[in-house]
Amino acid sequence: MKKVEFFSLKPEIELLKNEIMESIGEVLDSGKFIMDKNVKNFEQEICQYFGVKYAVSVNSGTDALVISLRACGIKEGDEVITTPFTFFATAEAISIIGAKPVFVDIDENTFNINPDLIEEKVNDKTKAILPVHLFGLPADMEKIMNIANRYGLVVIEDCAQSFGAKVRIGEEFFLTGTIGNAGAFSFFPTKNLGAYGDGGIIITNDEKVYEIASMLKNHGSKKKYYNEILGYNSRLDEIQAAVLRKKLKYVDKSNHSRREIAKRYNQLLSSLSDFIELPLFDEKKYYHVFHQYSVKLKKGNRDELREFLQQKGVDTFVYYPYPIHKLPPYEGENYSLPVTEKICKQIISFPIYHFMDLENVDYVVQSLKEWVGIEIK
Ligand SMILES: Cc1ncc(COP(=O)(O)O)c(C=O)c1O
Repeated sequence: MKKVEFFSLKPEIELLKNEIMESIGEVLDSGKFIMDKNVKNFEQEICQYFGVKYAVSVNSGTDALVISLRACGIKEGDEVITTPFTFFATAEAISIIGAKPVFVDIDENTFNINPDLIEEKVNDKTKAILPVHLFGLPADMEKIMNIANRYGLVVIEDCAQSFGAKVRIGEEFFLTGTIGNAGAFSFFPTKNLGAYGDGGIIITNDEKVYEIASMLKNHGSKKKYYNEILGYNSRLDEIQAAVLRKKLKYVDKSNHSRREIAKRYNQLLSSLSDFIELPLFDEKKYYHVFHQYSVKLKKGNRDELREFLQQKGVDTFVYYPYPIHKLPPYEGENYSLPVTEKICKQIISFPIYHFMDLENVDYVVQSLKEWVGIEIK
């Protein structure tokens, strides 16, 4: 039976294995594994890619959020407005520093925070907005920045899923992560730019944010053994930096490939519009990098569909089955966020990864059409 994996690094590794092995070999030969030339060069290359002044590499996307929040001055008792439809780490990072995530419902079509619902949650304790560019589609940063500017709020962008994505503001397109006070990225292996282990980075144009973040990631010190604040051990290591430097050269190609796969899904699935609502592909406003290809199931039972596809050898996933405000750490708050709650029941993601064979897309679609055929009967 044919097998379509949900995610695979095989095509990428086939393409880059020799180059990457060579870089890893150089690190082994150098004997320097922490904060050496690959980390420094990678940070500079990230600054060039994004056209920003500063980049601080860290140990994970979660740490990138925690450290960005603290570096931007968010502290215990502050409120941070964010989305309940994301990976848990977004809210967790806010709570772990003693601040409070305030969840705002999402937009039905973009799955991102609904900017029109933000303002009603702003009060004296509100210090920041933390939008997530979910599945590779940027949040509506024009509206978010307008609100932030009006109330003097910090904006930290969760770019874990949006490396290379762009959003239009006025007449120009901006890379996600370059719009707010800081952008936090994850290099978890499945990300659009992924390491072969854990990793993350913070980008910013603010010198103060850069300085504090640089200290926080290294036990609160600028100078060796002179620790000024309480921080973390959150350093990206040399081997991961070497891998990422190679992969950074291919990231635009990888994103282009993901977009081609998503385009093909959208074309082939358009005839199933009674059953499946396709993800937004609005090139006038967004450069979507399709970290996930997620659709809304309008009819039929999601579990049964997943089971049917599994029988056909097609892996699927549900991002995310639970709204964050309904998870144990937050359920006492009694939020009612109907769009998020509905989408959690409808959403389903199909296989996508860069350099995935388009024949696999055709097979997924063919299997979906078979399921729809059975449903119609
Ligand atoms: C939206 C979002 N935020 C934060 C994170 C955390 O990143 P990491 O796993 O590198 O800590 C992830 C990772 O899955 C994510 O998807």
